[in-house]
Amino acid sequence: MANMDHENLRHLQAAFNASIDDFIKTASEDGDNKGRIAELQESITNQATMIQAELVPPITRILQMSWGASINLAARVAIDLDLFNKIPESGIGLDELVEKTGASRNIVLRILRMLTASHIVAEMAQDTYAATPVSKLLTVPELRDLIKMTHDNMHPILSATPAYLRKTGFKDMSSTANACVDLYGVPFWEAIARDPEQMAAFQSAMATQENLPPETVPQYPFSEDFSDIAPDSVHLVDVGGGRGFALRDLLDKYPDFPGRLVLQEYPSVIEDAKKANLSSRIDLMPHDATHPQPIKGAKYYYFRRVFHTWPDVTAIAALKALHGAFKKGYSKVLIQDEVIRDVGCEPQKASQDISMMMLGAMERSEGQWREVLREGGFEIVRIVRADVGGLGVIEAELVE
Ligand SMILES: C[S@@+](CC[C@H](N)C(=O)[O-])C[C@H]1O[C@@H](n2cnc3c(N)ncnc32)[C@H](O)[C@@H]1O
Repeated sequence: MANMDHENLRHLQAAFNASIDDFIKTASEDGDNKGRIAELQESITNQATMIQAELVPPITRILQMSWGASINLAARVAIDLDLFNKIPESGIGLDELVEKTGASRNIVLRILRMLTASHIVAEMAQDTYAATPVSKLLTVPELRDLIKMTHDNMHPILSATPAYLRKTGFKDMSSTANACVDLYGVPFWEAIARDPEQMAAFQSAMATQENLPPETVPQYPFSEDFSDIAPDSVHLVDVGGGRGFALRDLLDKYPDFPGRLVLQEYPSVIEDAKKANLSSRIDLMPHDATHPQPIKGAKYYYFRRVFHTWPDVTAIAALKALHGAFKKGYSKVLIQDEVIRDVGCEPQKASQDISMMMLGAMERSEGQWREVLREGGFEIVRIVRADVGGLGVIEAELVE
């Protein structure tokens, strides 16, 4: 404590207080200004982290880092025990939870200790627990599937990654040679696709993104261009469109969206999409995005959160697969994905990029997007950034 830089702490305190004042004022007087509110939330979180870095002894931070995976594990076991549904806001005692779960008292206690220490569940008194906004959100099936998917499918690959990198001399991973292939024998999508239950859980986990900012419908001005769409033409092809959530929401937002829409996916995902009761205006088509695009002359070839699952080599192959289908001066590629900061990347985005790295995929900065599109034969026309979060819609055209 003697060496602590009090001057810096005071400076951080003043900046933190000013940001909180600004946040409260903006949220109460200008609540629709989502962009400014998100900016302030990010500053406050960063300032709190800097204060924490000033106060928490470095050794404690190293211990926290060493055991960070325990939170994911505790949440995963809590899901198996259905704890989040069993803990009400009004509170519940440990004995009742033990009775309701049928698990050993020690197991329930230790899992709850981790969850209360992480402020996921509130500790009202000794052995009495209450729901928090986080634990309430963990009663949503899709969010539970997200925890299951990260724990069951991703974390084993995370654990295997350092040894894989040592073995390969720290070379970049590709879609066919990466920590996942080393562990499961096949790339991630194939590993997931061979077990329909895992695939369904993965697709369900992806649905959580509908609840995250920015909203599912990109802040791209589609309606600017409705005039040049012939009624029987294909307006938009959603390549790697999952179960069709983006198309469903696009039609909700633009009921007069003219022309036809096509959802392209791996065959097993198309089978899932058939059960999603999508509009009859959406054609479902099994298609591998790296094979030549069969729908010619569409206005938009849209890829939402697909490119970040690919290394550059696959991304370039998918871009080249579009060349033959492109109507020059009319068709456009729209890529909705993270456009991460070159400097000051948020921890969540860095973490997403690490998850992508072990699958041979990547999140990209603006410079990296320009490069991969250029290699695929395209050039960026504009990037329409969301008010909230790092997602952008990259609009690109085929180069002559
Ligand atoms: C992260 S998910 C995003 C799904 C959807 N676009 C969304 O935003 O909800 C990536 C999707 O890309 C699909 N995908 C990956 N590689 C593909 C390929 N070569 N051909 C077709 N689909 C592919 C996967 O099946 C998966 O559904």
